[in-house]
Amino acid sequence: MSTHFHTLTIKELKRETAKTVSIAFDIPESLTSDFKYDAGQYLTIKANVNGEEIRRSYSISSYGDEALQVSCKMIDGGKMSTHLVNNVGVGDALEVMPPMGNFTVESIEKPLVLFAAGSGVTPIFSILKKALKEGNNSIKLFYGNRSEEEVIFKNQLESIRANHPDRFLVQQFLSSDGERLDSERTQNLVNGIGEAQYFICGPEGMIAAVKEGLEKANVSSSNITIEYFASPKSEKPAVEMVASGEVNDIIAELDGERHKITLESGESILDAANRIGIDPPFSCQSGVCTTCKCKVLSGEVEMENNFGLGEDEAEEGFVLSCISKPTSAGVVVSWDEA
Ligand code: FES
Repeated sequence: MSTHFHTLTIKELKRETAKTVSIAFDIPESLTSDFKYDAGQYLTIKANVNGEEIRRSYSISSYGDEALQVSCKMIDGGKMSTHLVNNVGVGDALEVMPPMGNFTVESIEKPLVLFAAGSGVTPIFSILKKALKEGNNSIKLFYGNRSEEEVIFKNQLESIRANHPDRFLVQQFLSSDGERLDSERTQNLVNGIGEAQYFICGPEGMIAAVKEGLEKANVSSSNITIEYFASPKSEKPAVEMVASGEVNDIIAELDGERHKITLESGESILDAANRIGIDPPFSCQSGVCTTCKCKVLSGEVEMENNFGLGEDEAEEGFVLSCISKPTSAGVVVSWDEA
């Protein structure tokens, strides 16, 4: 998998709401295989905003034959989102890393139940389009927003519903009307649905409430897939640095080369790699996006928390380098095997 940035030109910009734009890219022939993606994945964008290099990840909202597109909602104080929503235009170039992420549907056979809030609808919209295209017959979307004006993809969802009334149900909840996707409502919404795949994307509080509602409704956690937008508060204390020099000496592999790195106090493996200039892939730097994933080839490495990696990946020895530290001597990690 390529983890390098490529320059892509903006092909189309669409304002979805006052604060949200969808940005579609032109993919040159030479990059089509690098930019193949699955519904639910994301792109990491790098830009220079007022002299500062910033990276952020945005979920893909397109699917199939549509031009590759992400949707971005401007958040208060968000440097990149403000830049993308206010400053960029068709024909502008952005530095973009190929698609990544595990918020994807493996089987389209089972009924799909999708929970989204706010801009959390972005990857959900792509998953919805994939499921419809591939013949899923039962898709339900429960979608929360603050107000009617903030509903992203409002008309598109309405037209999908009108075209597939027997396969797709969308139910909206506006907190301005006192409607929230809380635990109790979630439990009531899914009662009687039976075996299904559940996907949740939205702010941390909404995710926790929906997850609790699903658990109360006896939905197995193996049927629930979650995408966090920001790192939830960890109950586990941060990994302590071990004061032994040996432990902090690691080998890191990137692009076929091995580098010896000595971590400094308080640094993660990613921080240390960046400090010596080897430039591994990263975006959020808070253990959410998984862009910085690497494989532990030997030694012991501990993560502060894990909200981005699946259990199977953790068992296979993958870690998120932005929140990982060595806890034994002889650690070797590789971004090439991620
Ligand atoms: S950079 Fe996002 S999880 Fe590490």
